Amino acid sequence: DGYALWLRHAPLEDAPWLDRGPPSIYARNGDDPTIKVATAELERGLLKLGGKRDPWGVGTMPRSLPNTPASFELDCRGDGKPNDGRFRVAADRSNKTVKISGPGSISCLYGVYALLRELSQGEDPLAVNLDEKPAMPLRMLNHWDNPDGYVERGYSGRSIFDWWRLPDHLDQRLLDYASANASIGINGTVVNNVNASPLFLTDRYIPKLKRVADALRPYGIRLYISARFSAPHEIGGLPTADPLDPRVEAWWKERADEIYAAIPDFGGFLVKANSEGQPGPQDYGRTHADGANMMARAIGDRGTVIWRAFVYSEVDPTDRAKQAYAEFVPLDGKFAGNVIVQVKNGAIDFQPREPFHPLFGAMPKTRLMLETQLTKEYLGFATHLVFLAPMWEEVLRADTGRGGTVADVIAPVGMAGVANTGSDRNWSGSHFDQANWYAFGRLAWDPGLSSEAIAREWAAQTFSREQPFLDAVVPLMLGSRQAAVDYMTPLGLTHQMATGHHYGPGPWVADLARPEWNPMYYSRADKEGIGFDRTASGSNALSQYAPAVAAQWDEPGKTSPDYLLWFHHVTWDFAMPSGKPLWNELVGRYDAGVARVDAMAQTWASLEPYVDAQRFTDVAENLRIQQQEARWWRDASIAYWQSINGLGLPAGTRPPE
Ligand code: GCU
Repeated sequence: DGYALWLRHAPLEDAPWLDRGPPSIYARNGDDPTIKVATAELERGLLKLGGKRDPWGVGTMPRSLPNTPASFELDCRGDGKPNDGRFRVAADRSNKTVKISGPGSISCLYGVYALLRELSQGEDPLAVNLDEKPAMPLRMLNHWDNPDGYVERGYSGRSIFDWWRLPDHLDQRLLDYASANASIGINGTVVNNVNASPLFLTDRYIPKLKRVADALRPYGIRLYISARFSAPHEIGGLPTADPLDPRVEAWWKERADEIYAAIPDFGGFLVKANSEGQPGPQDYGRTHADGANMMARAIGDRGTVIWRAFVYSEVDPTDRAKQAYAEFVPLDGKFAGNVIVQVKNGAIDFQPREPFHPLFGAMPKTRLMLETQLTKEYLGFATHLVFLAPMWEEVLRADTGRGGTVADVIAPVGMAGVANTGSDRNWSGSHFDQANWYAFGRLAWDPGLSSEAIAREWAAQTFSREQPFLDAVVPLMLGSRQAAVDYMTPLGLTHQMATGHHYGPGPWVADLARPEWNPMYYSRADKEGIGFDRTASGSNALSQYAPAVAAQWDEPGKTSPDYLLWFHHVTWDFAMPSGKPLWNELVGRYDAGVARVDAMAQTWASLEPYVDAQRFTDVAENLRIQQQEARWWRDASIAYWQSINGLGLPAGTRPPE
């Protein structure tokens, strides 16, 4: 049913090491809570991999004594080096021992999961040799979960956090959640929505937060909350939330003290301010830095304030894409040392494809963190199969032109993902959306990993380790993101989704109160052409990029077709690199998206022998819906463009279905 995620550890059918007799485990520092988890996870994984054949006839793994060789030895006692999670897994073939080691207990937990990942893919333990450390310190989930259990942009049921029954009852699901996260290196979680309720700052909620933090701690996960900027006024009884009012700072300090008394390793506050109606320092004529630094002082060196750069208000009517850069670049160097600015991957909002956000590289004196969205708000919710690793890989590898790639810019800080978890049995609303959770963690651990490698190891652990299955399913996953781009918003089009819920096409919408709520604002389609001119002759958002980067996109003829209509307004007969006029190319892209989804469904149908019936059918049925909805997107979009440009379908286009 999918509950086990990628931690199924399906029984190995053919693994000589299983015939070597029951493995034993020896853990140094065995009373440490994290080492206990690591030992239990290793035991559980090995027993499941041993499987139905019960090769050892043991219910629990034998524990070795000190100084007797164990099959698996955990040795993470700390050596004074920073406990950042680095680990080694090394086999000693002569005495058939696998040793997992590192400078702190979390090293052993990460090492165990990494070892199990290898074994689950069919590797022999004595062939495993790993030496890893995380590429960036913060690898966090952001839950957009409300205290009443509703998940904003959640497509997988209700919230996994049961605030109603906490602190008295802690659901087992939270421990399974912690284990899943730790298995991919996630080490922080923000448990409530950025559109934050002040409840989380009240005395009533602190014990609830404490119970969750205590449960997550052995898994190396720190708890954070989203903090509502106006809380001092709303629940603190103060007449204001002005960050420069000393009473306001004193209030935040008192709240932080209370939280730290209960949760000594509390991570800090995530803040959405002056965006989409949320309160913030600008309400009092202050800057983002004034607001962030005040909260940072209240927290002190105990934690971090993560301030979001997703600012979206009515500041610049010429181009919504320009607002974050305009507000934040002048503040570079003004943020306190324990403030992080968290930047979405693109300047609009988690679209199927956006160029990287121009803030990356543009604030060299500020700690910047990347925000991605695992939940597929603009990508067909949990229904459409869209593997997001290729999108994140594209962003991480983008050269900012200002001294490195996006991955280089965020490496000293971290990466956040808006979670796709919920109360559904399969956690993510669909089996393949588990892959996006997995891929996020793996890329935050190592942005150098390829989407292909991630897809392969995920699919092997989640579905089947058989080569023919993997050889078919991996390309299916890798092509799925481009398919969605093509049938939804090809050639750099953006935000063509229906109003509010963002599911399905709505390119014709033009009558909403604010201009940039309307898809027509983004497409700028008219009788002559289509696309948003962001060059000097238009909004000039292009000038926010480094000159060398901007130069790739400053003329339509030089611009990659992927970003053409993002940066340029061109005529319907504009000559594309393919030699075709734009209109023909556009129609062709929609068709290609539909064709790719058809091929995905066909491929999946051929994989029935490898997948259990329930999960096979779940995926097949979603793909059937996706096939229909790819056509819906294509046909509605093309018909609408035709109503504007008066053009017929290009010759040779498919007959109507
Ligand atoms: C999007 C999304 C909102 C969310 C916002 C944010 O606009 O639709 O639901 O609150 O992003 O990231 O703050």
